[in-house]
Amino acid sequence: MSSRIPLAYNPKVLELFRNPKNLGRMEKPDAEAVAGSLACGDMIAVFLRIDRVTQTITDAMFESYGCAANIAASSIMTVMAKGKTLEEAWQISWKNISDELGTLPMIKSHCGILAVGALRRAIRNYFLDKTKPAWIPESPTPDERHAVEEERLLEVLAKRAKRMEAELGQDSKGGKTG
Ligand code: FES
Repeated sequence: MSSRIPLAYNPKVLELFRNPKNLGRMEKPDAEAVAGSLACGDMIAVFLRIDRVTQTITDAMFESYGCAANIAASSIMTVMAKGKTLEEAWQISWKNISDELGTLPMIKSHCGILAVGALRRAIRNYFLDKTKPAWIPESPTPDERHAVEEERLLEVLAKRAKRMEAELGQDSKGGKTG
């Protein structure tokens, strides 16, 4: 029998999970980032269209490879980012996202952190070939560190899979006989 208890998502999370806004891949975005969570292995990709003169986000889209909270948090993040300047969008926190969703279950707060981290990574990426403004810190923020780059996530997941394989191999060799 499964011991998993269904999570109590509020109606807004469920609605965005079923009908996510801004879901999809953007053609030729001005900035993008793919980021994954080491906590669960889920990933999201964020795409931004940016007005270069006003530095305003005119469009934001996402792709999600994750849970219901990941999809809802990414979706609301894109809704919140649209129309904001890059500096304003940088200030969006996982708490803002959780509040906007009407709270996420505590165990799912990392899903909101992943959405914020991916957005910040996309904004940071936008300035890779430009003069970085002073409001972007030199070192990655905790949200950015949580939302690791795709390569790093795949590397860690591959290591975990190897370790599990080795453990399962050990179990089957040294299985109990009575
Ligand atoms: Fe990992 Fe939701 S469980 S992003």
